[in-house]
Amino acid sequence: MKTHWPLDPNVIYLNHGTVGVTPTPVLALQQAIRDEIERGPSQFLLRAQSGLCGCPTGVPTRVRDAAKAVAAHIGAQSDDLVFVDNATTGVNAVLRSFALGAGDEILLTDHNYGATLRTAQFVARERGAIVRTVTVPYPRFDPDELVTAVASAITTRTRIAVLDHITSESALVFPLAELAAVCRQRGVSVLVDGAHAPGVLPLDLPALGVDWYSANLHKWACSPRSCGILWAAPDRQRDLHPPVISWGLDQGFTAEFDWVGTRDVSAWLAAPAGFEFLNSLGLDHVWRHNHDLAWTGAQHLADRWGTALGYRESDIGFMATVPLPAAAGSTPAEAARLRDALLFTHHIEVQLHAAHGRLWTRISAQVYNEMADIERLAEAVAAGLR
Ligand SMILES: Cc1ncc(COP(=O)(O)O)c(C=O)c1O
Repeated sequence: MKTHWPLDPNVIYLNHGTVGVTPTPVLALQQAIRDEIERGPSQFLLRAQSGLCGCPTGVPTRVRDAAKAVAAHIGAQSDDLVFVDNATTGVNAVLRSFALGAGDEILLTDHNYGATLRTAQFVARERGAIVRTVTVPYPRFDPDELVTAVASAITTRTRIAVLDHITSESALVFPLAELAAVCRQRGVSVLVDGAHAPGVLPLDLPALGVDWYSANLHKWACSPRSCGILWAAPDRQRDLHPPVISWGLDQGFTAEFDWVGTRDVSAWLAAPAGFEFLNSLGLDHVWRHNHDLAWTGAQHLADRWGTALGYRESDIGFMATVPLPAAAGSTPAEAARLRDALLFTHHIEVQLHAAHGRLWTRISAQVYNEMADIERLAEAVAAGLR
C-alpha cells in the first residue's frame, strides 16, 4: 500500500485526517490536467472549465462534469453540488449568506472545529446574533444523550444549527439523521460540517434531511488539495452565495460557485479520480482495514498507557482519540512539546492536543498504516514517561 503514496518513508504518518494525503496516481492525473490547461489556458479556463466565454451549446463544462462524477458517489444530484476550496469555505458561504437578525441564535456544539466556531462568531458579531454552544457528553460519549442535549438547547430564537458529521479533535461520528430530525421538527435549519466524512461514511446526502452539507474531498476521499464540496437542498440554493463574488452573481447556484475568479481547478477536476482510487482498492477492504486499525489501535494505546476510552466502536470511523496518561501533562504548551518530540525525535506525525484538563492524541488509520505504527507511538510516549 505504501507504494501508492508519496509519503516520506522515514516518518510514521498517523495524521491522514488533518490535511489528507493524495495518492500518487491521483497526483499524476492532476498533473496531466495541469498540462492540458497550460496547452491553452484561456480556452480551457474561460470555455471548457467555466463556459464564461462560451461553450458549445449543450456541452457541460469540465467543472460540471467533475461535479456529476462526484455527486454519483454521495447520492446527490450534480445540480445541487458545487466545488469549494475546502470545508471552511463551504461553512463560510452558508453562514455568511444566511439571514440572521439581532437576537437570533446559531447553535453549535463544544466539539465544532475552531474555524467553524470563529465563522459563527464573526457572523453573529456582524448581525447582533448569539452563538449558543451545546456541551457534548464527553469523554463518556452517548449519542442519545447528545440528541437530547441538542433538543433541549433549541429555543424560539434558534435559526440554524451547525453540526459535525465526524468531529475533529474527538473523532466521533455524530448521529446526524437523528440530530437533523430534532432540528427540523423545531424549524431550525441544519448546516453539516462533514469535513471528515466523504471516503469514510457511506453518504446519501439528500436522505440526511439537512439543508446544507460542507465537506472535504482532500482528506479521506483522496482528491488533491484544495478540494471541498458544498451540497445545498434545492430550496436553499437561491440565497446562497460564495464568500468571493464574481461573474456568476444571480446566474444560479452552480454558476456562482463554479467561477470564483481565475484559479487552478485541477484539484476539482481530479476529484473523481480520488473516489476511483478508493474503489480500485475495494471500498469494503479499505473500510474494514482503516476502521479496525483505528479501533484496535486506540484500545492498544489506552491499554499501554493505562487510560480508558469513553466511546464504542460504532462511534468512530477511521480516526480515534485516546487520552494520554496524566503524567504526560495537560497544557497546550505540553501538547506542543510532545508533538514536536514525537515528530523530530521519533519521526511520528500524529495529532496531539490539550483538552478537558489532559492531553489526547488522535490517530488516523489509512491503508498505508499498520499496527506496528501504533505500537511505535505507544512506545515513544511510554518511553518519554519513564
Ligand atoms: C471537523 C472539521 N471541520 C472543518 C475542518 C477544516 O478543513 P479545511 O481546513 O480543509 O477547510 C476540519 C479540518 O481538519 C475539521 O476537522
